[in-house]
Amino acid sequence: MTQTLSSGILSYLFDDKIKVFCLSLFQSVSNSQKSLSRIIEISRYFVVLLLNISNSNTMAFNLPQLPYSYDALEPHFDAETMKIHHTKHHAAYTANLNAAIENTELANQSIEEILAKLDLENKALRNNAGGYYNHNLFWESLCPEGQLISLGSPPERHPVSHLSEAINSSFGSYEEFKAQFSKAAASVFGSGWAWLCSSKDGTLCICSTANQDNPLMPGVGCDCTPILGLDVWEHAYYLNYQNRRPDYIAAFFNIIDWDKIEKRRQSIIG
Ligand SMILES: [Fe+2]
Repeated sequence: MTQTLSSGILSYLFDDKIKVFCLSLFQSVSNSQKSLSRIIEISRYFVVLLLNISNSNTMAFNLPQLPYSYDALEPHFDAETMKIHHTKHHAAYTANLNAAIENTELANQSIEEILAKLDLENKALRNNAGGYYNHNLFWESLCPEGQLISLGSPPERHPVSHLSEAINSSFGSYEEFKAQFSKAAASVFGSGWAWLCSSKDGTLCICSTANQDNPLMPGVGCDCTPILGLDVWEHAYYLNYQNRRPDYIAAFFNIIDWDKIEKRRQSIIG
C-alpha cells in the first residue's frame, strides 16, 4: 500500500524517469539490510533525483505530456505524425521559448501574460511563445474517438448544451459553424492556425492567424479569446494527408473534445 501511495504521489509530482528512481529508492528502503553498500546505493539515487529536480526547475516552461497516447487519435491523426509533432516541433518551441526568456523578467510570467504584452517585432519570442501556447491548446482540445458520443451519421460528436446554443446563436447552426471554420482553416496561406474564439459576453467568432500567431497577441486581427485552435502547418498532417489539407480539416471534427471547449468558454464569460 505504501508503494502504491508513493507511486501515485510521484506520478503527480515528477516525470517517469524521476519516478523510477524514487520507486527504486522506496523499494530499497523497505528491503534495507542496513549494509554500507545499500546506503551508498540510496545516496546515489538521491543525488540523481536532486539533479533532475534542479534541472527541471531552471526551465520556465515544460513540454506537457499528452492526455492520450500517440496512436489514440487514429485513424484521423496518425501516431507517427503525433509523435513527431509533439516530441520534435512542440518540444523545439518550448526549448526556444525558454531560451528567449532566460534571465529576463518574462521567466516569471505566465504564457498568457507574455503573449498579451508581446512585441511583435521580437520574432524569436513571437514564434516560440505562440508555438508553445498554440500546441498546448491544440492537444488539450482533442479526444480519442472511442471516448466520444456518436451523434448523426457519420459518427461525430457535436457540441451540446450551452455551447450548442452559443454556436447556433453566433453562426446559425453547427453545420454553418463547421463550414465557416473549415473555410478559415483551408484559406490560411502557408502555415498558420484557425481559431474559434469567445468574447466575454459568450459571443463566438472565427478567425485565422499566420505562422504561430494567436488571438492573445495584440494586433494580429483576432480580438476574442481562443477556445479551439486547429494547426494547419504541413507538419501537422503531411505524412498522412500529403497536400489534402481539406481532408485533415474534416478529420479534425471527429476528435474535438467539446466538453473542454465549453469549459474554456465558461471561464471566459465567468
Ligand atoms: Fe504544429
